Amino acid sequence: MNIFGILLLVGSALSVDLDVDSVDSIREATALISTGLMDYYWGYQKGGTIGMFTNPYYWWEAGGAWGSMIDYWYFLENNTYEETIKQALLYQVGENDDYIPLNQSTTEGNDDQAFWGIAAIQAAERNFTNPSDDQPQWLYLAQAVFNTMAWRWDTDSCNGGLRWQIFPWNSGYDYKNSVSNAGLFHIGARLARFTGNDSYVDWAEKVYDWLVGVKFVNESNSYYFAYDGANIDDNCSSVTKYQWTYNAGMLLSGCAYLYNYTGEDIWKERTLGYLNGLFVFTPQDGNYILQETACQGSGTCNNDQRSFKAYLSRFLGLTAVLVPETQDTVNKYLQDSAQGAAASCSGGYDGHTCGLNWNYNGWDGNYGLGEQMCALEVMQNLLIYDRPAPYTATNGGSSTGDGAAGSQTTSLTDQPLSLDKGDSAGAAIITVLIGVSIIALACWLLV
Ligand SMILES: *[C@@H]1O[C@H](CO)[C@@H](O)[C@H](O)[C@H]1NC(C)=O
Ligand SMILES: *[C@@H]1O[C@H](CO)[C@@H](O)[C@H](O)[C@H]1NC(C)=O
Ligand SMILES: *[C@@H]1O[C@H](CO)[C@@H](O)[C@H](O)[C@H]1NC(C)=O
Ligand SMILES: *[C@@H]1O[C@H](CO)[C@@H](O)[C@H](O)[C@H]1NC(C)=O
Ligand SMILES: *[C@@H]1O[C@H](CO)[C@@H](O)[C@H](O)[C@H]1NC(C)=O
Ligand SMILES: *[C@@H]1O[C@H](CO)[C@@H](O)[C@H](O)[C@H]1NC(C)=O
Ligand SMILES: *[C@@H]1O[C@H](CO)[C@@H](O)[C@H](O)[C@H]1NC(C)=O
Repeated sequence: MNIFGILLLVGSALSVDLDVDSVDSIREATALISTGLMDYYWGYQKGGTIGMFTNPYYWWEAGGAWGSMIDYWYFLENNTYEETIKQALLYQVGENDDYIPLNQSTTEGNDDQAFWGIAAIQAAERNFTNPSDDQPQWLYLAQAVFNTMAWRWDTDSCNGGLRWQIFPWNSGYDYKNSVSNAGLFHIGARLARFTGNDSYVDWAEKVYDWLVGVKFVNESNSYYFAYDGANIDDNCSSVTKYQWTYNAGMLLSGCAYLYNYTGEDIWKERTLGYLNGLFVFTPQDGNYILQETACQGSGTCNNDQRSFKAYLSRFLGLTAVLVPETQDTVNKYLQDSAQGAAASCSGGYDGHTCGLNWNYNGWDGNYGLGEQMCALEVMQNLLIYDRPAPYTATNGGSSTGDGAAGSQTTSLTDQPLSLDKGDSAGAAIITVLIGVSIIALACWLLV
């Protein structure tokens, strides 16, 4: 064998091969990719924080990543990271067990909280190992997220809706967006099915109707679109029309949960509407390989956006299980995308680092937590039919909760919309404290 033969052999041995019909092949591929994902976790290293991934990945994306890892645990029946996932989810619950940790109050938006809430309801639906009795339970945490979000429903502008940000001092407080509201809708739909409590259906309907009314959602054809959001200054009348995979996925699967739970045709129709609309996330007609169209082609996807396909992949899997009519189409998206993703997972020093562009037929040079999450989710969701559908409280889900969860949340978070002088002073104090610590840090560095 000459040198070229050896190089070829090494190359093919290191890249991720994938046979979408073989559980063993999916197992081998996802073992490599999940290990690559966890390389970004520094929770146990010096300077790291439990539950958080390395810089520059924000807190919200950690919530997304733990959701990916719960499903890795579930689909592959692999408990390697069970204890790590559980510790992470519990360490970040915050002072009031509602995923609003004080540490994140300079960045946390409604959408960020929603992603941790989604991880929590998912843990309940997968019957993920329960926390001990003296700790908050998965269902409880999901309900606390739902309730604290629902209490922020704001009728002062745009006829309702959640703002993007929770705290007035963060930029984006004047913007109402799809992902925050779709997050509330999605968690509500899942809580309805898990608990059998119809109040969650009422809320989900209210949020959904609002999204349509304010034109963040476009149902005017048989293919539905979800846009980004709008500023409240002109009463949400100028909608920013970017489309993101995670918004489509959150609405798609939220509708699927509601159809599965209520049996009402309107939710099936909507599920199919979003499924039809997914063609905007492929390069052209007849191609089923997903892409983040709004930024991928131009090479401008930021760290957040590079993880969005992970959620669409996860939500496609859930949709196929909950609304069987969608399976043929979902299978095409998942199988073609998984193959493209596998081809992309051939970069880096380890030879199986995943890229961003699944249509590239190889590694496109991009890498990061988001790329690993997307590849892991699209591959592990090929196993949806091999494992039980999401459990409910009556057929295998053992997590416990409380309809009133989150009501002990303090004034810092439960009244962000009606700021009195005390709260403003609180905001000012926090700003000053941050300023002081930055100065202190600067002095310390100088010394
Ligand atoms: C379980 O997951 C770990 C981490 O991804 C992997 O190294 C290991 O090979 C997996 N085990 C099996 C049996 O697939
Ligand atoms: C909050 O930040 C401090 C300082 O970085 C860290 O020690 C602590 O673990 C963090 N807590 C959470 C819940 O992230
Ligand atoms: C704001 O928009 C909503 C519809 O989204 C409408 O019902 C309401 O009347 C508008 N309010 C103002 C002040 O224009
Ligand atoms: C809704 O989508 C259609 C394409 O399906 C487009 O022509 C129309 O302008 C959109 N409407 C709004 C209000 O965005
Ligand atoms: C709900 O999901 C379950 C689990 O996949 C499935 O067996 C059932 O047919 C679904 N119900 C409806 C109404 O589609
Ligand atoms: C869910 O977990 C509980 C507690 O560990 C266990 O008793 C139960 O059998 C599990 N349910 C399923 C369907 O595995
Ligand atoms: C049903 O959900 C609503 C809304 O969160 C809650 O207020 C109520 O307590 C729940 N009912 C039960 C029986 O848990």
